[in-house]
Amino acid sequence: MSTYYITTPIYYVNDAPHIGHAYTTVNADAFARWHRLLGDDTFMLTGTDEHGLKIQRSAEEQGVTPLEQADTNSARFQSTFQLLDIANNDFIRTTEPRHHHAVQALMQRAYDNGWIYSDTYEGLYCVGCEAYYTEDELDDGNCKIHGRPAEQMVEENYFFKLSAFADQLLAHYEANPEQIRPEGYRNEVLGLLRQEVRDISISRSSIDWGVPVPWDEDHVFYVWYDALINYATAVGFAADDDMFNRYWPSAHHVIGKDIIRFHCVFWPAMLLAAGITDLPRFYVHGWLLIGGEKMSKSKLNSVSPRQLVEGDEEAGYSAFGVDGYRYHFLRDPAFGPDSDFSYEQMLIRYNSDLANQYGNLVQRVITVTAKKCGELAPAPSPDSPLAVQAETAYRETAEAWDRAQPPIALDATWRLIRETNEYLAANEPWKMDAGPEVDRVMGDALEAIRIVTILASPAIPNATQETWERIGMDGQVTDQRLPDAATWGGYPGGVALVPGDPLFPRLKG
Ligand code: MSP
Repeated sequence: MSTYYITTPIYYVNDAPHIGHAYTTVNADAFARWHRLLGDDTFMLTGTDEHGLKIQRSAEEQGVTPLEQADTNSARFQSTFQLLDIANNDFIRTTEPRHHHAVQALMQRAYDNGWIYSDTYEGLYCVGCEAYYTEDELDDGNCKIHGRPAEQMVEENYFFKLSAFADQLLAHYEANPEQIRPEGYRNEVLGLLRQEVRDISISRSSIDWGVPVPWDEDHVFYVWYDALINYATAVGFAADDDMFNRYWPSAHHVIGKDIIRFHCVFWPAMLLAAGITDLPRFYVHGWLLIGGEKMSKSKLNSVSPRQLVEGDEEAGYSAFGVDGYRYHFLRDPAFGPDSDFSYEQMLIRYNSDLANQYGNLVQRVITVTAKKCGELAPAPSPDSPLAVQAETAYRETAEAWDRAQPPIALDATWRLIRETNEYLAANEPWKMDAGPEVDRVMGDALEAIRIVTILASPAIPNATQETWERIGMDGQVTDQRLPDAATWGGYPGGVALVPGDPLFPRLKG
């Protein structure tokens, strides 16, 4: 059996969850759910990043301790992810003792291996990014991401010999193109590694909100070097070797393009420095923008997932439900480039793909079958024209998930839904008399529904489980195993159908 370990970045707790954060987590969850269908031993991780200067300052501004702030906001991330039916196996908080233990153990190994030294550092620091920049990486002294001036800092710091790993990492990414998807981001990383790679400062002595450096307790690790290690902590690094050896070699990190350098350059080098030679893979996505701008607290332009799931009259948003929410964010923004959030597009997508195509198909097939085929549903025919289309849909869906392209995967799945609707329109079973011909058409349609319901389940887990039950299938749709479950002919027939209300009532603008 293969294993599949998938993570999201851990979210800073100075901010409330918005649709940008949720975008990363929903995608990671969909990848995890796809791999569970494939039968992979899957482990999905998300969590919160709770140390560092940014968090400390924001807590001070609000008159609370950093831990109080972290408790409040970490809980908000957890409840948002519950709302979105994220099936994570673990939720990590960097203030947990297990994490401190793993950070200290990993960094101690790097230190013992001779990759860490002490020096004075002077540079321009953006607190928003928690990163040092050179003059030419800034815009007139301002951070390009946050638009605020970088601050001059002077510190006695520990340094990590990142420069010593640049060639090895370059060779690694050159030899293994699939390590970073999509391709454009791999090129960006190759570009970073071909430039001069400088050593990096990894500790701070001026703050204490962090994980203490084990060999010098006057320092705490700089937040990024504590944060990245969360991925190792959660699968038992320095605590449970069996678990670590089981999951670590299959690590996949879903990240936004803003944190590519930390993840694709610094993190693998840290792993190598600690003697861990299995390096993670990356799925990198762009930003979700609002009116062309990145969401932020200061611009007050963020939209929360809850507003769209439950509806928000004041903002003029309908209630899309969890599945409607997930489907839009998986189906519409291309995975890789930036894209503007469009409420209008979300509404169009919901009404066309979910209400008209999937929802109507299920509704219509159950109604017509009940009317024309008696108490028990008919079985599919082996030589249905839909069988070939189902095979293509499965193949293309699987390939796209494998290439980390959810919109393309869902498009391939939905093609089978449209083809099944066309098959019904062409055969007009509602005009037929009861008998073998209508049984054949409806058996085929039910089989196509069974297959698309499995394939769509990573995106719309609730409606697919509901459909699974309505078409008389036992158990959980999530317990089906691909590729066998997508093979034509799996619908048994002879089962009772369960009529119900429309799965996706149409929404008005
Ligand atoms: N704490 C760091 C990550 C440490 S991982 C070891 C961090 N946190 S963050 O909360 O600022 O952002 C986390 C991730 O949220 C980003 O990488 C990105 O994946 C996602 N997004 C935050 N805003 C986003 C958008 N507007 N659009 C898409 N994704 C966004 O960076």
